[in-house]
Amino acid sequence: MKQINVGIIGPGWCGGIRANACAIHPLVDELHLAEIDAERLAVVKGETNPTTTTDDYHQMLANDDINAIFISATPESTHYPMIKHSLEAGKHVFVEKPISSTMEEADEVITLAEKKGLKFTVGYSQRFKPKFAFVHKALKDGTIGEPVTCLVSRNVTRELGDKITGRTKMSPAAMEATHDLDFLLWCLRPRKPVRVYSQQSGKLYMKNSDTPDHQWIMVTMDDGTTITVGAGWILPLGYKNYSQCWIEVVGTDGALTIDDTHKEVQINTVKDGIQYPMSTMPGEPVGHVFAGPMKAETDHFIEAVALDRPVMVLPSEAREVMDVYTAADLSAERGEPVMLPRNDTSGPLAAE
Ligand SMILES: NC(=O)c1ccc[n+]([C@@H]2O[C@H](COP(=O)([O-])OP(=O)(O)OC[C@H]3O[C@@H](n4cnc5c(N)ncnc54)[C@H](O)[C@@H]3O)[C@@H](O)[C@H]2O)c1
Repeated sequence: MKQINVGIIGPGWCGGIRANACAIHPLVDELHLAEIDAERLAVVKGETNPTTTTDDYHQMLANDDINAIFISATPESTHYPMIKHSLEAGKHVFVEKPISSTMEEADEVITLAEKKGLKFTVGYSQRFKPKFAFVHKALKDGTIGEPVTCLVSRNVTRELGDKITGRTKMSPAAMEATHDLDFLLWCLRPRKPVRVYSQQSGKLYMKNSDTPDHQWIMVTMDDGTTITVGAGWILPLGYKNYSQCWIEVVGTDGALTIDDTHKEVQINTVKDGIQYPMSTMPGEPVGHVFAGPMKAETDHFIEAVALDRPVMVLPSEAREVMDVYTAADLSAERGEPVMLPRNDTSGPLAAE
């Protein structure tokens, strides 16, 4: 069995899940950690027994024995330089969404990965949830006929809203709805998005961070299928980073409704009131199993590198998602629809 050596940059919340998954994967020999927060590093070191640790990720990248890097650091503006440096050092790269702050940066690292023949992928974890995979399957095998319209509404607690809006000005489209845009574009390929309309609403975070609380995005595909995705981050606190999601997919021969609101498990304690365990987007370890998509996603990338298999999320797909949420932000700012591709003036729906 050919094992690989893996490094994690930023083993915080998500990176900690990645590190723990790598530590027990049979295809991983050595685990290396780079983390600037000494306290957090000590916690994850205690959980995973890494071969080396450092507070300087460049030191980790200089280790020629490391094959692949997971980039899980925040703020999100760190992703682009970390991807670039990792690819330049000859490492396969998995980066948490978003790839970068601009399309130019995304294009640069996508081209660099291609040129160097390295695997490069982005963390769209929701694709690894069985309920979501079921929607993908039902659309691909024609169970509900031709898709007519698809809706995903997602809200997360204000604890996560505080965390995200405290470190970045990126919109709910770029930070939350990005998962659901990726999911629906994945389900609907080879159809292409051609028109995007979006509206934001801000009554809470607008006051202190100039960030919207919620954003709706409507996308028209080139065959007329419509997508509506909504994302917000001001749910009242019920559980740490609690997330609820509702999906409706209507086709010519049927309809599919998915309740991913995580209400099926509730615990009520005197100390903390009602909580919803196993309800975050990445998921959490529960004894000997992992409840949620992030471990399966981590395993998939390890296997893609070790066994030379395709990655789940192609860089071109992540780029398309970025194109759509960037158009959504532009639409919200202008108060009018934005056509895609943005540099193409041909076609019946093109207006720009
Ligand atoms: N796929 C999902 O479901 C999902 C869910 C939440 C967050 N995310 C994404 O994952 C990423 C991480 O989010 P999080 O909530 O885990 O963040 P976090 O803040 O909990 O962890 C980030 C860690 O990076 C460390 N760090 C910062 N700069 C560093 C550097 N130069 N070198 C080494 N370490 C450094 C920080 O000290 C921190 O521990 C974000 O990009 C976020 O958008 C994805």
